[in-house]
Amino acid sequence: MPGTCVIGLQWGDEAKGKLVDLLTPNFDLVVRYQGGANAGHTVVIGDKTFKLHHIPSGILNPQVKNIIAPGVVLNPGTILQEIDSLLADGVDPSENMIISDRVHVVCPWHIEEDKALNAMLVGGESIGTTLRGIGPCYRDKVGRTFAIRLGDMFRDDFAEKVRGIVTAKKRILSGIRGDDAEGDVELDADAIISEFNGYAERLKPYVADTNHLLHDAVADGKKLLFEGAQGALLDIDHGTFPFVTSSNSSGVGITGGSGVPPKWINKVIGVIKSYSTRVGGGPFPTELDNEVGAKIRDLGNEYGTTTGRPRRCGWFDAVAVRYSARLSGVDALSLMMLDVMSYLDEIKICTAYRIDGVETNLFPSNADDLRRAEPVYETLPGWNHDVTAARSIEEIPELAMSFANRVGEIVGVPVAMVSVGPDRAQSIFVDGNAQQMAGVGG
Ligand code: IMP
Repeated sequence: MPGTCVIGLQWGDEAKGKLVDLLTPNFDLVVRYQGGANAGHTVVIGDKTFKLHHIPSGILNPQVKNIIAPGVVLNPGTILQEIDSLLADGVDPSENMIISDRVHVVCPWHIEEDKALNAMLVGGESIGTTLRGIGPCYRDKVGRTFAIRLGDMFRDDFAEKVRGIVTAKKRILSGIRGDDAEGDVELDADAIISEFNGYAERLKPYVADTNHLLHDAVADGKKLLFEGAQGALLDIDHGTFPFVTSSNSSGVGITGGSGVPPKWINKVIGVIKSYSTRVGGGPFPTELDNEVGAKIRDLGNEYGTTTGRPRRCGWFDAVAVRYSARLSGVDALSLMMLDVMSYLDEIKICTAYRIDGVETNLFPSNADDLRRAEPVYETLPGWNHDVTAARSIEEIPELAMSFANRVGEIVGVPVAMVSVGPDRAQSIFVDGNAQQMAGVGG
């Protein structure tokens, strides 16, 4: 069976990029299949840090083909910036990256709509989007009338299409904002057409029908690694709606976004941090609005890769992760940022919620119920010892491994790898569980 998937099991930013980069040598293709420039994947190799938004984290391995599949929404200007920054670091993506002509294109009006709508409250709170036009672009994809796919940018009627959409979007925007966007110069059809024609010319060598390519690859016996963006709790259908992103960011989104049959996915690796973070609005039962939360934020450098926003931090929520691991069919856990917990006196794991006085270990489907959830904690002792130099399980303090194993036990999935720092070398496979990671490690 050809496919393994890496999925974030919290609210995004679980350091999936590091894991994908690490697993990549075992695969022939890495596939990114949902989300867009709202994602920020950081990969650190030696003294170089690579920040990627659309480009799969496998790009740093020249042997591997990187596919941007139909379920992604693509901002052409942003991906060209990513390409340029890779080129500046001596990585040439034209050798090993292919973008589906089916991806939907994030256009300037999507960014404007995102700004206008994000200023409105949903359930008393702003969604707090990344303002990258993601929701509006997916909305136009589903709505069809105003959608532009990457392949459309190469067709003769592209300019005419943009003109029609700009006329309609000005009316829509003025309706949302309650102003006179029709006379607004920020949506200038001619300027957009000429800017996007320039993007099309530069992107042309990368564009193909990736569906055939993936089907042929599997027919030839190639191995696929699917790279999820965001986290399962931000899934549009199964996350903390409406405080979610607009794609299926849990395991259920893999086949729809990639254009491959479900039977190709035979292994799912769930990535979790040793604590929880969330950016933007929405309920977060284990949030620590105190010194401990601030300490975790500082030690974990919890500031958005894409927006620079400080992330909300809190204790590990095993109720939420047990749910997202079951939803995504996770076989093994990769526990990241263990080093960040090293100097806390005690560490808490949320094992249940109390909602209106009733204790439950089931994650609620409604954001208001989750907002009322009081966490029930199990407290473990801290280990007060630097783990960043550890390269084997034996070098990790016993108390730290007790924490890791307890997380796996409550979630119901074994921890197969722990990460003690951002570098590739700071990744330790857990004996006995390593084979769960697609045969990677010991
Ligand atoms: P959007 O995806 O920009 O529409 O934002 C919707 C919600 O998802 C907001 O709460 C964002 O902060 C969150 N979000 C989107 N992408 C990411 C990500 O890559 N990491 C963490 N949170 C994200």
